[in-house]
Amino acid sequence: MEKPFSFCFIFFTICFCIIISVANSCREFSVIIFNDNIKEEVNGECKIKDDPTELTRYVTVSYNESYLWSLCEDEKSHPTKTVHWCDFKLGKKHQRLDVFNYTVRPGCMGKSHNRKCTWLIRHDGFYFVDRRTVPPKQRKSHDWKVHAVAVDLFVILITSLICGYTFKFGSERLYLLIRACFSHERTGNGAACNGDGR
Ligand SMILES: *[C@@H]1O[C@H](CO)[C@@H](O)[C@H](O)[C@H]1NC(C)=O
Ligand SMILES: *[C@@H]1O[C@H](CO)[C@@H](O)[C@H](O)[C@H]1NC(C)=O
Repeated sequence: MEKPFSFCFIFFTICFCIIISVANSCREFSVIIFNDNIKEEVNGECKIKDDPTELTRYVTVSYNESYLWSLCEDEKSHPTKTVHWCDFKLGKKHQRLDVFNYTVRPGCMGKSHNRKCTWLIRHDGFYFVDRRTVPPKQRKSHDWKVHAVAVDLFVILITSLICGYTFKFGSERLYLLIRACFSHERTGNGAACNGDGR
């Protein structure tokens, strides 16, 4: 009677160990993006850093609504490697930030171990809900970047100056070249029009 019992015992122990290790190899986190009091839609394009599939998650959050996804942190690989980042847009404003990385991670866990990384998007920027304190603390992480009209105008001005200068320089050279060709032709050296411009 002793042999079958020990066989069963070993068999189930092994099964149990496999199940535990499989379950443990993935630690699940949720990323929550919340549109906090912005009347317009906030759009985001989110990616996983160094992910060979390079899938983009298109996140759209309406007024006072949230978007949630779960991620699996692979504990076997180096933990600093799991990085999810998003490029957010709100009208002319934009910002790119990590919504999950090794620095953010501890703030997602807190006392209840529910592993939620909550981001509040407001008119004045991005707030992370740090769960290490009770109640959780909202900490401002990023401002919006404003793609200002002034910047546009400055870029146009610089571009037109460069273009204008290049064009002026170019047209002068072209004029000299044509003139040189014609003068050579008149003197019978037209075939040697090599454009040395003199
Ligand atoms: C949206 O959220 C803000 C801040 O949390 C709140 O003051 C406002 O009443 C909410 N609006 C609606 C329509 O629920
Ligand atoms: C992780 O993300 C946070 C929030 O976006 C950022 O402040 C921090 O610099 C990032 N850490 C690293 C190591 O990139």
